[in-house]
Amino acid sequence: MKILLLGSGGRENALAWHIAKSQKLTSLFIAPGNAGTEDFGKNVPLNITDFEEIKRFVVENKIDMVVAGSEESLVKGIHDYFLADKMLKKTFVVGPCKNAALLEGSKDFAKKFMSRYKIPTAEHATFSSPSILEGMEFLKTLPPPFVLKADGLAAGKGVLIVNTLSEAITILKEMLGGKFGEASRKVVVERYLEGMELSVFVATDGKNYKLLPSAKDYKRIGEGDSGLNTGGMGAISPVHFANKEFLQKVQERIVEPTLKGLQNEGILYQGFLFLGLMNVKGNPYVIEYNVRLGDPETEVILPLLKSDFLEMCEAIKNGTLDSYHLEIDSRVAATVMLVSRGYPKDYNSGKIVRHLEEVSDCYVFHAGTKKENNEIRTNGGRVFSITGVAPTLEEALQKCYKNAAIIDFDGKYYRRDIGFDLKK
Ligand code: AMP
Ligand code: GLY
Repeated sequence: MKILLLGSGGRENALAWHIAKSQKLTSLFIAPGNAGTEDFGKNVPLNITDFEEIKRFVVENKIDMVVAGSEESLVKGIHDYFLADKMLKKTFVVGPCKNAALLEGSKDFAKKFMSRYKIPTAEHATFSSPSILEGMEFLKTLPPPFVLKADGLAAGKGVLIVNTLSEAITILKEMLGGKFGEASRKVVVERYLEGMELSVFVATDGKNYKLLPSAKDYKRIGEGDSGLNTGGMGAISPVHFANKEFLQKVQERIVEPTLKGLQNEGILYQGFLFLGLMNVKGNPYVIEYNVRLGDPETEVILPLLKSDFLEMCEAIKNGTLDSYHLEIDSRVAATVMLVSRGYPKDYNSGKIVRHLEEVSDCYVFHAGTKKENNEIRTNGGRVFSITGVAPTLEEALQKCYKNAAIIDFDGKYYRRDIGFDLKK
């Protein structure tokens, strides 16, 4: 199979690495890719939301399958675009259609969907400018802290959690007043859920599904989960409290009703579904849906996937995931992100990366890197994801941290407490 992979982060580097191992692969292109993905295929400078440009490339190169790494192209409707174009009929897009992508693209849509199918989530209501007074009244019925979410995609910044009612009311006014532009024209207000967060990943062909390993990511920039939210500073997989009993509940209460709901509404979902969950006293609640794999969760899940990734994608295409044999490594994976100092605010790029060839016993997935005159330079906030796999979390983390200390670039920063809350 000829594959075009869309994206340029650590997730796409991990995907490129796994796809390159596939028995089914004949050639792999990554758009736009990074300095790491080049080891596994050919980087091509395509704009992943310019479907005309992608179409030209796909037709010219006879691509069999497009794997969408990030949500950008899915939310914009790449799957629908390919289905509607005769010249693209033979090319399958791994990832759901635009209407399913609303599960990620609109918090209001996701909440209404969960209510319709009785999927456990926090008590909530949605407000817009004309209903601002009702919004204030609703806030008064909730205990602190207060959770306010912009309905649309707001570059990961659209969720605010505040401690006092007066702050919550001010934020509600600001959001409806355009704090996040169009994205906060509607605001979802919801009850705060107390518990441990985790993510569960599902591969589905629209009817059948397979559960991939659970993971936990560390979103804040600072140790002890302090400071600003980031794309993710590290992750571990699997999560020990996501045991058989808990995952059974996830399947029965969340995965199955979600897939039934999608079918019921005629929404075609052929790809990966990311369930952001809260474990509230042993019961799973949905915090969010994403219509793709996570980053950096993919960097811990894929090293545990022993079966062939492209065979899984083919089963998604053919509706035969029920007979796909999913084989998962029973060890533990951990990843630590090396980032540019200043991230998630301003940071410098273009710094030379040193000692990359000295790492051992780990996977180094490039995130924000580029090659210039045969030198690897930093090219983003998140620069590398270093993954260790071992029989215990402790050993997996040792592998990450040993190598995190070796790779070097000006302004390198990483959290030194990834997974510490889960060490037993
Ligand atoms: P979201 O974009 O909806 O995933 O929200 C971002 C983050 O805010 C989540 O990963 C949680 O840490 C936190 N969060 C969102 N909703 C809630 C809630 N109802 N209760 C507690 N924490 C929440
Ligand atoms: N690590 C969180 C995400 O990929 O959305």
